[in-house]
Amino acid sequence: MTENLNEQKTIPTNDKPLVTIVGVLGKQGLSAARTLLASGKYRVRGITRRTDSPEAVELVEQGAELINIPLALGYKKEFIEAFRGADAAFLMTPNIAPPATHEMELGKELAKAAVEAGVGHIVFSSLENVDKITEGTLSAPHFTDKARVEEYIRTLPVQSTFIYMAFFYTNLLEFYTPIEKDGTLVFPIYLPRDFRAPFVDPLTAAGPVVLEILSHPYHYAGKSLPVIGDIISPQEMVDAFVNVTGKKAVYSSAYTREEMLELFPEFTQNEGLVQEILGMVQYAVEYGYFRQDRDLEWSRKINPDALTWEQFLRTTGWNGEKRSF
Ligand SMILES: NC(=O)c1ccc[n+]([C@@H]2O[C@H](COP(=O)([O-])OP(=O)(O)OC[C@H]3O[C@@H](n4cnc5c(N)ncnc54)[C@H](OP(=O)(O)O)[C@@H]3O)[C@@H](O)[C@H]2O)c1
Repeated sequence: MTENLNEQKTIPTNDKPLVTIVGVLGKQGLSAARTLLASGKYRVRGITRRTDSPEAVELVEQGAELINIPLALGYKKEFIEAFRGADAAFLMTPNIAPPATHEMELGKELAKAAVEAGVGHIVFSSLENVDKITEGTLSAPHFTDKARVEEYIRTLPVQSTFIYMAFFYTNLLEFYTPIEKDGTLVFPIYLPRDFRAPFVDPLTAAGPVVLEILSHPYHYAGKSLPVIGDIISPQEMVDAFVNVTGKKAVYSSAYTREEMLELFPEFTQNEGLVQEILGMVQYAVEYGYFRQDRDLEWSRKINPDALTWEQFLRTTGWNGEKRSF
């Protein structure tokens, strides 16, 4: 049996395998699309609502085909069409903030559609089952819902592989942006000052692991694989920021409920979101972000160029301002 998706079917050599990417203009999706296209070995079809955006135009110029579907429930027929003819699919679920609770249902609908369309291999961006690991004592629905989608995909008649992204560096740029106070940037971080947690740049790290998996689909079938760029504490992140940018910066804890609400008073409007964030960080601190038996080295072995936090700061030139992706 051959390993590479390129060789799975008897196809003319100029006909490359097609990969449908869900959330193709999101951070993970864009990384996957850019890496697969740059490899020259795959064709890419992407799902996005923003087919006219500059990022969309750039992907189309690189040869991608884009299909306009929202990542929402009720589009199964459209999803099946988007997966039709694809050899593989990269599936992810977007941030779904409480009170909305449809992440698991959306993930299952995407997977079902991919299987109905005849996709050969699914790569799903999953996370740990916090409910199981903590025996129901902590709740982080956006982790556990993904784990339940993963469990469901494992029951389907399709080859599948699961990537577990570490905390995104981009959280500090998008959501927990530093606040300027008397010439010093105050970094409101949701983890305790000296707690080392796994972090990653989703914009450059997702692509290489998806390419690796699709290049060896039989080898990776059934595996759940963490994707990490650095294992680093908030204080070390702030110190690196000071070194790289020359700016004054300090850490400020947003770990406890009181600290979080003081730094982000707008969160008082969404108690469900507060509970979700507190559950997630308490889980990460008390149990470790990844289950004990996961291979924390794999992603950096297959992609030694995965950016550390310091490299991320240098390559992005981030100076503490708010950015959106
Ligand atoms: N932040 C972290 O530290 C972290 C760590 C591990 C895993 N995760 C998980 O990663 C996922 C987010 O990944 P990402 O940052 O790569 O994705 P993203 O950039 O937030 O979103 C991906 C795409 O989803 C579509 N989308 C988002 N919200 C939507 C909505 N309400 N309705 C319809 N479409 C919507 C958008 O597509 P268009 O606008 O192009 O249509 C967007 O480009 C989440 O599930 C999160 O739990 C996050």
